[in-house]
Amino acid sequence: MTRFLITSALPYVNGVKHIGNLIGSLLPADVHARFRRQTGADVLFICGTDEHGTPAELGAIQAGQDVRTFCDQQHAIQADIYRRFGLSFDYFGRSSSTQNHALTQHFYRRLDAAGLIEERELRQIWSTVDRRFLPDRYVLGTCPHCGFDSARGDQCDGCGNLIDPTELIRPRSTLSGDTALEVRTSRHFFLRQTLLLDELNEWVDSRGGWPPFVVSLAKSWLTSELKDRCITRDLAWGIPVPRAGFEQKVFYVWFDAPIAYIGATQQWAEADPSSRDWRHWWRQNDDVRYIQFLGKDNVPFHAVSFPATLIGAGEPWKTVDVIKGFHWLNYQGGKFSTSGRRGIFTDQALEELPADLWRWWLIANAPETSDTDFSVRRFVADVNKDLADVFGNLVNRIISFTHQAFGGRIPAGGQAGEQEFSLAGELGRRTATLRVHHETLEFRRAAAETRAIWSAANAYLQQAAPWTTTKSDPAGAAVATRTGLNLAYLSAVLAWSIVPSLSDTVRRAFGDNDVIPRWPSASCGVLLDCGAGKQVLQLPPLVQKITGERANQLAVRFGE
Ligand code: MF3
Ligand code: ZN
Repeated sequence: MTRFLITSALPYVNGVKHIGNLIGSLLPADVHARFRRQTGADVLFICGTDEHGTPAELGAIQAGQDVRTFCDQQHAIQADIYRRFGLSFDYFGRSSSTQNHALTQHFYRRLDAAGLIEERELRQIWSTVDRRFLPDRYVLGTCPHCGFDSARGDQCDGCGNLIDPTELIRPRSTLSGDTALEVRTSRHFFLRQTLLLDELNEWVDSRGGWPPFVVSLAKSWLTSELKDRCITRDLAWGIPVPRAGFEQKVFYVWFDAPIAYIGATQQWAEADPSSRDWRHWWRQNDDVRYIQFLGKDNVPFHAVSFPATLIGAGEPWKTVDVIKGFHWLNYQGGKFSTSGRRGIFTDQALEELPADLWRWWLIANAPETSDTDFSVRRFVADVNKDLADVFGNLVNRIISFTHQAFGGRIPAGGQAGEQEFSLAGELGRRTATLRVHHETLEFRRAAAETRAIWSAANAYLQQAAPWTTTKSDPAGAAVATRTGLNLAYLSAVLAWSIVPSLSDTVRRAFGDNDVIPRWPSASCGVLLDCGAGKQVLQLPPLVQKITGERANQLAVRFGE
């Protein structure tokens, strides 16, 4: 049986993430993990915080804390938010774990033994004011490629190019603003990924199921333009480089962060060594299908550098099968920004509304093929319509009626007719279509099909209207009510991966307390004729409609 290893890009530890980060990797990874569990597959869903490098150092300085304390606190804060969003990680680890230290040093030694590490002298930016080298993110300046005036020393947010901080025009220190920066030399290790160019190209060509834009991004990196990557930095916080003369240096955060997918799996395994083995997932094995979820800026690191590390190490490591990349969720035409505190942050989102409302809108509008805009008005309109008017209305209406007319029991009696059979046929087809969308990682389509199932169910109920026939046609009313209840239950089961908490509420009303609702098999799911005689619990309104007044408050806090 196929097993699924699912990882979401590890969010930087430096502060609470915005909903753009959520839809860019964490949430779709969770939806897929849940869907696969529903189908009975063995799933391992791994994530964690990315704790090294300048973002963490900078965050700690801003918070006035030492880096370790800062990371401990921020890790706990993020873990709690993700739990409240219903993200069902099997393990949420840390790139600063002892496991990741050992693994990262192991990979360095293997790559060195394979002749893939080269020592080079580097010209680096030194700030006399800050009394330190200023690597990548500590330097801002004008991009040599596109002219964007706040390009970071590692990557330009204007054009996406990776840059070397010494290439920046008019560089300045982000710490002190120092503009009188000097260039000094320092010794560093490079990963000679250019030597692996052919192997990496063959490797990409042997994969399938990646979104086309991810393939083209990957291929555009894998040309003769590919450069060797410097994997060490002059920083104090990070994983030490195990080599004499390098005591003041650590590995580059982008070298150790993806290795932390494995490190976090080891953390998971060590929590229960008798039943878990990390090698089971990370040693080459065709039974494991490995899917990574990440934003488009992360593609070069996952399609080139990390595979170079794994392949170059010359051991049988599992490499990724599918990279599911995402474009950006934009915020009023601009980018969300953690450092600029622009956008809707995940903690704020949960202060305002239940997680499932955000989950639903984000998945239904996932930026899969292009950037997408968030707006409070669209969010409110969509959530009210899909979740309150359709799904919520379906569930509450039929359960309330069952209590009024049948004492809260699924009525027996009557015979399903033409209408029910054709509806069951339609739902059978739609359920199969939904499954394919989930399997092929098409999240917007999966949400659209889920919505179509809810609508078909609602339309049936509207039309069959058992409340109008209890006297004139009791058998017909019983059939329509029984069918309506089956529709409500099926709607909840099929939506579980996207809106787990709403789904759990509905399923519990039907006496289904399973942690993971099984994907419907043809027998009951599409017959819509199950459960006669069973008690169904009365439910308060499943989804509260967002009022005009609330919408205005949201618009004041987050912008229109
Ligand atoms: N922290 C990075 C970001 O937010 C992602 C790291 S993913 C990993 O862009 F592979 F390196 F872990
Ligand atoms: Zn640029």
